[in-house]
Parts: sequence; structure tokens; C-alpha cells
Amino acid sequence: MSFLRMDELDLSGKRVMIREDFNVPLQAGRVTSDARLRAALPTIRMALDRGAAVILLSHLGRPVEGRYEHEFSLAPVAAHLSGLLDLPVRLQKDWLDGIDIQAGEVVLCENVRFNAGEKANDETLAKTMAALCDIFVMDAFGTAHRAQASTEGVIRFAATVCAGPLLSRELYELESALTEPERPMLAIVGGAKVSTKLTILESLMSRVDQLIVGGGIANTFIAASGYDVGRSLYEPDLIHEAQRLIRRAHKMGGEIPIPKDVVVASSFSKDAEAHVRSVDEVQANEMILDIGPLTAVDYAAMIQGAGTVIWNGPVGVFEFENFAAGTRAIADAIEISNAFSIAGGGDTLAAIDQFNIADGVSYISTGGGAFLEYVEGKTLPAVAALEARFNN
Ligand code: 3PG
Ligand code: MG
Repeated sequence: MSFLRMDELDLSGKRVMIREDFNVPLQAGRVTSDARLRAALPTIRMALDRGAAVILLSHLGRPVEGRYEHEFSLAPVAAHLSGLLDLPVRLQKDWLDGIDIQAGEVVLCENVRFNAGEKANDETLAKTMAALCDIFVMDAFGTAHRAQASTEGVIRFAATVCAGPLLSRELYELESALTEPERPMLAIVGGAKVSTKLTILESLMSRVDQLIVGGGIANTFIAASGYDVGRSLYEPDLIHEAQRLIRRAHKMGGEIPIPKDVVVASSFSKDAEAHVRSVDEVQANEMILDIGPLTAVDYAAMIQGAGTVIWNGPVGVFEFENFAAGTRAIADAIEISNAFSIAGGGDTLAAIDQFNIADGVSYISTGGGAFLEYVEGKTLPAVAALEARFNN
């Protein structure tokens, strides 16, 4: 990949605008997982050390565009980031009119998605942003799959544009892991819905040697194999697609394993009583909330035998202790495995934190959707825009 990199540029005295992905989980006005903020620190520090005036951009959540909404304010992020940097981080509300900043200072612009035209990649908006800086740094790997004004449009118009160290490192690590990967290559794709992950399942099937599905996705595959899933979360409309993928796996000489056993409960709650059932014994009033212990042993063995493991999405409701064992078994197996392991996605990162296995994962991406789109082999629009600027 060829584009200009931030460390190749003279930043001294320059207004350096860095697009970050500070889309972090909040609870009661506080940041509950700061992995994405910590990942951005080296870039911000490097820009400050080199004498830049640092202007930070990010989105948070999916607010209605065109107006300010307190719930989506970046104020908690500014406070948390200030603590991490041990420096003041000034939050600026109406920043499109101009940003007053000196070298050595950090200004965080309020949620880019409050601006009308952000998501539609409005050209006028992109030009306005571009005019606010001398150098635009794209460092939001987690948002690089969005062609929006602050991620793609601005790259077409800013005076100088480059990739930040976080974006460069993400692309480097993922490319190294996925070109000529150590075989066998195993992907674990969990999460609620087949519908949102159909294309990734499809493309992974041709890339990996073994695919494991988990969570609500697995429930649809269980139903597609003819078992009763009771009141489990699943997608009846996607059963045909699941059957097609199962057939495709068979044709390729493999299979998408169906759990032998599952953990069920009659309600979705942390206090619900858990029962282990063989997959053909799920009762009409029960829901599947985790894989069972025999299945966990099988999946752990597959992980032990793999050369490369890609992990996105839990295999059960790991937030509830009674239904955490399956995801814990996957996490533990990845931790002790010598395979090159890459993980991405918000829930996956939360599970890695909860089971304290970060040191046992070879590379943890800050991306969710962007991570999956990269793994699918799709072009990330923000990266394409950087390359286009470099080549022209
Ligand atoms: C993410 O959390 O995956 C990114 O920040 C992108 O957010 P979006 O899906 O709302 O565009
Ligand atoms: Mg490991």
C-alpha cells in the first residue's frame, strides 16, 4: 500500500488535523472501554512532540445529523483523553467556523456526525474541514470503511494528507497475517445475526480452512440443520442462506460445525438458571445462550491445531457468568495457542478484556466493521483516497 505517512512529514508549527475513531462505549457519562483512546495516544504524542497544533476529529454513535445532542457529545472522551495524555484537551463545539489553536495544544472537535452532510460525504463540508488544517492525518482505522466527509471527502481536499501510525500499523499487521497465512487457517465468527455477516461468512469460506460460527449466527445454522431452537435468537429468513453455506462447505470438503451441546435458559437474564442440553433436546420454551462443554472442547482443539486464527464475535452471552464458559474456552484456547491470532470487533475486545488474554493474542485490531471488511478483501474507502492522493 502506498501513501504518505505522518512520520515522513515536518509537523512543526503546523495545524495537524487527525481523524480518530473515538467511538467508544459510554455509561453514565464515562468511558467504559478506552482501548481505542489508548491506541491513539502514540500518534497524538508524536504530533505534539514534533511541534504540531493538534486538532482531533471523531464521531460517536449514530446521532441524527444537523443538530447537537448531549447524549452523543464527545465531552466524556475529552475528559478521559485529557487524563491519559496528562494534558488539557479542549472540546470545541462549533468548530466548522474556525479553530483557535497554538502549537502544543490539543483541541477535540465535537462529534463530526452533528454536521449535516457528514454521512453523505458532502463535498462542501469536506472542503470546510480541509481548510481548517495544514495537514490531515487519517488514523481512524475503525472508520476507514466509511466514505464520509471526515474520513474520505476531506482527504480529497486537504493541502497535505497522510496515514497516521495507527492506521499504517493496522494495515501492515492485517496484510502480513492474511497474505500467505500459516495454515490451517481458522475463523471464528460470532454475533447476533447472519444477515449482517453473510458477506463475511461467504468470503471467509473461500479464504480459511475452517469456519466456526457462534452466537445468534450459530442458532440460525442449528435451525438450518433441522434442530428445534425453541425461543433462541435466530433468523428464520436466513435458514436457506445458512443451508447453502453448509452445502458449500461440504462441497469444499469441509464443514461448518454445529454445536453438539448447548447451554440453555428459559429467560435472557444474568440470573437465569442454565442447563446443558444436547443440541437435539432444546425445549420449546428455552433459548440457547452458549455452546456446551463438549462443543467447547472440540472448538478449543480446532484452535490448538490452527496456524492462524481470526476471531470476531463471542459464541455465547459472555456478559452473564452462567453463559460465559464457551467464549472463555475460545479465549483461553487462543491465549495458549501458538497460532498467529488476530481479533477485532467491540464485543470481541470486551471478551478479551474480561478474560484477560490480551497478551496471548498476536494482534488486536481497533476495528469492528473495518476489520471485517478488510478481512473480506474489500477496499477501505479512506485508504483508497490516501492512495489516490499519493499517486496523483
Ligand atoms: C465502529 O465502531 O465500528 C466504528 O467506529 C464505525 O462506526 P459506525 O458503524 O457507526 O460507522
Ligand atoms: Mg496465543
